[in-house]
Amino acid sequence: MVASEAFPLAKTGGLADVTSALCGALCKRGHDVRLMLPAYRGVRDAARAVPMLELGDPLGVGTTRLLKGRLPGYDVEVWLVDNPGLYDRPGDPYLDPAGHDWPDNHLRFALLDRVAAIVSIAGVPLGWQPQIVHAHDWQAGLVPAYLHWWGGRRPSTVFTIHNLHFAGRFAPDLCSRVALPPAAFSMHGVELYGSFSYLKAGLYYGDRLTTVSPQYAKEIQTPLGGEGLHGLLQSRNVDLTGILNGIDTQQWSPATDPHLATRYDARSLQGKAAAKRALQEELGLAPDASAPLLGSVGRLTWQKGIDLVLEALPLLLERGGQLAVLGSGEPGLESAIRYAAASHPGRVVFRHGYDEPLSHRIVAGSDLFAVPSRFEPCGLTQMYAMTYGTVPIVRHTGGLADTVSDATSATDGVGFVFAHPTGTAFGAALERALDAFADPSLWRELVHRGMQRDFGWSRSAIAYESLYEALVQSREPQEQRPGHEQKQAHPTPA
Ligand code: ADP
Ligand code: GLC
Repeated sequence: MVASEAFPLAKTGGLADVTSALCGALCKRGHDVRLMLPAYRGVRDAARAVPMLELGDPLGVGTTRLLKGRLPGYDVEVWLVDNPGLYDRPGDPYLDPAGHDWPDNHLRFALLDRVAAIVSIAGVPLGWQPQIVHAHDWQAGLVPAYLHWWGGRRPSTVFTIHNLHFAGRFAPDLCSRVALPPAAFSMHGVELYGSFSYLKAGLYYGDRLTTVSPQYAKEIQTPLGGEGLHGLLQSRNVDLTGILNGIDTQQWSPATDPHLATRYDARSLQGKAAAKRALQEELGLAPDASAPLLGSVGRLTWQKGIDLVLEALPLLLERGGQLAVLGSGEPGLESAIRYAAASHPGRVVFRHGYDEPLSHRIVAGSDLFAVPSRFEPCGLTQMYAMTYGTVPIVRHTGGLADTVSDATSATDGVGFVFAHPTGTAFGAALERALDAFADPSLWRELVHRGMQRDFGWSRSAIAYESLYEALVQSREPQEQRPGHEQKQAHPTPA
C-alpha cells in the first residue's frame, strides 16, 4: 500500500484515515500488508522505525534507505522511505510552514513511488514481494507507471482516486528527471493537457482503478465531474469500481472515544447532552441546551462549500441556533468565518487550525453537522457525525449521496439532503432540520437511526479483497490491454 498520508503518522485529510483503516482491516482478514510512506519529520520516531535496506540514490536526490516500523494503534508494518533532504522538514506533507507547495514535490513523491516500484519487484533482497501494489492519489500515481515500464515480472497494480481535483501537474519535461522513458509523455501516458500529471499516470497505467464511492465513480465519468479526465475514465470503465470508504470505529466511537469527557451510546444519550454542554463551554458558546448547534470540521476550500453555510447563517441565528467551525484553508473563506464569529460572539465560533481531539468533540457535541460540499468523493465526517448521533446536512453528491438519505422524503432517512450548491438550497435543508429538531420525539428517532447505521470497514475491506483476488487470478499483463502501447525495456532502477 503506497500513500502520502496515514493516520496517526501524517494526516491532512480523509486519505490518512482511509489508508490506515484499510491496511488494518486487511491485516485482520489475514492479508500480509506493508504500508509505504515518506519518513516525514517525526514519523520515524513515532513509528519506532529501524533501518532495513540501503537503496543508494535511486533518483539523483541523495542517499535513500528504507526503514521498518509499526503504524501506531494498528497491527500494520510500515516501510518508510528515508531521505532527510526531501522529507525531514517542518510543515505538512505537501506545504511549507507558510502554506506554499514545496517546490520539489515532484521529486519528493517520485522518490516514494520509485522506491515502492523497486521493492515490489522480484530480486530485491527483502525476501518479500507483493502480489498487488495499491497506490493512492496523485502522490503515488507514478508507481503503476514505473512498474509498467519496468519490463520484467511485476505485481499487479490498483490505483485509487480519493480526489480527482488534485492532478499532481508539473512541467512537461519531467520524464528523464523522474526516470521514465520520453515515450511516457504522451496522451497514452502521463500527459494531461500539456503538463505531466502524476494522477494521469496512475489512471492510465493502473491495472485496476477504484474510487471511494459508487456515486463518485459515476460522476467522474461525466464532463461535469471528470475534471477533464472523463474521456479516459469512460474508456477505463470496465476497470473502474466505486468502493465506499468505511470509518475506523476504533478511533471514532462515542462509547470509547478518549477525547470526550463523558462517553455514550444509542441507549444512553445523556452523555451526548453532556458533550454539547462541554463543547459550548470549551468554545465560549452560550450554555443553552435548547439551541440547535451546527458543527463543521474540514478543509476550508471551495470544494467543501462552507460559504453556503455562511449564506444561511442569518436563518440559523434567527431560529436560535449556534455555529462551531474548525478548519483552515483559503484565506478568503477563513476571513469570512472569522468575521461571522466576531459579529456574533457566543453564537458563532471559529477555531482555526488542525485539532484532532477538538474535531471529535465538535462531532459529538453538535446537534447538526454541515457537509455542503460542491463535490465529495466520499467524505468521512458525515459518517462520523451519524455514528455520534449528530444529524448531517449534506449536498447530494459523491459519497454524501451514498451515505445520507433524506429524512423528509424517506421514512428511514438519517439526515437532510439538498441538491443545488447554493446558500438558498442549503438554507431550505437547514430549515427542515431545525423543524425536526424542534420535535423531540422525531429528533430522537432520527438520532437513533443514524447511530444504528454500520459504517465500519469490514464491508469495504471485503470489496477490496475481492478486487485483489480477481486481479491476482486474471494476471492479465497490462501491456496487452487495448489502448496501451508496447512496453519498452527500461534501465533497472537503483
Ligand atoms: P477530505 O479528505 O476531503 O479533507 P474527508 O471528510 O474524507 O475530507 O476527511 C477529512 C478528515 O480530516 C476527517 O477525519 C476530519 O475529521 C479531518 N479534519 C479535517 N479538518 C480538520 C481539522 N481542522 N482538525 C481536525 N481534523 C480535521
Ligand atoms: C479525499 C476526498 C474525500 C474522501 C477522502 C478519503 O480527500 O476529498 O471525499 O473521503 O479522500 O477517501
